[in-house]
Amino acid sequence: MIYLDNAATTRPDPAVLEAMAQAREDYGNASSVHRLGVAAAKAVEMARAAVAEALQVRPDEVVFTSGGTEANNLALKGVLLAGARRGHLVISAVEHPSVLEPARALQRLGCRLSLVGTDSDGVIDLSALAKLLTERTSLVSVMHANNETGALQPLAEIGRLCRRRGVLFHTDASQSFTKEALEPRRVGADLVTMSAHKIHGPKGVGALYVRPGFRLEPILHGGGQEGGLRSGTHNTAAILGFGAAVGLSRARDAARVRRLRDRLEARLRELVPGLRRNGPRARRVCGILSVTIPRGRAGDLLQALSREGVCASAGAACSAAVAHPSHVLLAMGLSADEAGRTLRLSLSRWTTAAEVESVARIIARLAQR
Ligand SMILES: Cc1ncc(COP(=O)(O)O)c(C=O)c1O
Repeated sequence: MIYLDNAATTRPDPAVLEAMAQAREDYGNASSVHRLGVAAAKAVEMARAAVAEALQVRPDEVVFTSGGTEANNLALKGVLLAGARRGHLVISAVEHPSVLEPARALQRLGCRLSLVGTDSDGVIDLSALAKLLTERTSLVSVMHANNETGALQPLAEIGRLCRRRGVLFHTDASQSFTKEALEPRRVGADLVTMSAHKIHGPKGVGALYVRPGFRLEPILHGGGQEGGLRSGTHNTAAILGFGAAVGLSRARDAARVRRLRDRLEARLRELVPGLRRNGPRARRVCGILSVTIPRGRAGDLLQALSREGVCASAGAACSAAVAHPSHVLLAMGLSADEAGRTLRLSLSRWTTAAEVESVARIIARLAQR
C-alpha cells in the first residue's frame, strides 16, 4: 500500500504510541493532588512545554483541546462571544470547515461575517482584507497552510494589518505546524490552532496558542482546567502522544518531503500531458500536491487508485464523501468541472522516492483510460 493521504491524517509514529503508553502508569487525573495526579500533571506539562517550544511561546500560553476543530471553534467563538468584542468577523474564503462553520454559526447569532477572496493560487487578497477591516472588526482568521492545495498565506502582512487596526488575528496552523517556521509573536498572531494527527501524533488532540492580554470566552464550561479556557479532564495519553510527535518533527524532514513532492509533480507533468497544479509553486507547505487531470473524474480515479493500493483523496477528506465541489478550488477560480477532476496527493516523512515514481506511473496509466 502507498499512503498519500497525509493531509487527511498521518500514521502515528511508533515512538508516539510508546509515549502514550506511559498513561498506563500515570493514569491519575492531572487535576488530583495525590502522587498519581501529580505525575499525570507533570507529564502533561512536559508535552505542553514541547508544543510551546515549537512556537517559541510560553507553556502557559498553550491550551490543549480535542483537536484542530475545537481549537478553531474556541478561537472564533471565544473572541466573538467575549461580550465587548462581539461584532465583525473576517475569514478567508478558503478556510477549513472547522473555521467556516463556526463563523456561519456566529453569523446566525448576530455577528457580521465577511469573507476575503483569493487569487488563482489561493493566496488571499491583502488589499481586499485591508478594506474590510473597520473599528467594529473583532477578529481576522486566515489559515497558515491550506489543506487542499498547501498554499501558504502571508501571515506577517496580515498580522501587520490587524495590529494597525487593533484587530485580533487567528491562524489555523493545523497543516503547517512543525513543518513551516511559525512564531506567533513574529507574525503578530494572537491565536494559533494546532492538531496532533497531522504530524504523526494521535487523533483527537490539538492545541490553541492564546496570547495573554485579551478576553476569550470558553466554549466548554466546567471544572476550569486549562486556565479555565477548556474544562474537562485532561486526555493524558493523547496529550503525551502530541508532545512526543512535536519532539520527533525535524526541519530536515520537511526539506526532504518537499523535494519528493516536487519530484512527484514533475513526473506527473511529464507523464500526464495537460495536468495542472493548483496552488503556488514555491510558497506551499512541504507535503501537499493538488493536481487537476485533463479529463475523467477524480472520484473514479481515486477508486481505481485504491484498487491498486494507493490511498489519496480529492481535496479535503471530510468533504470527500459529499458530492459538492471544493469551495477552496471554486474560490481560486476553478470551474465545478475542473474541481471534479482534482486530486490531492499528500506525502509524509515516510514517503519514499520509489513510491513517488510508482504512483506517478500508476496515475499516468489510469488517467489515460
Ligand atoms: C486546515 C485544517 N484545520 C483544521 C482541521 C481539523 O483538525 P482536527 O481533525 O484535529 O479536528 C484540519 C484537518 O482535519 C485541517 O486540515
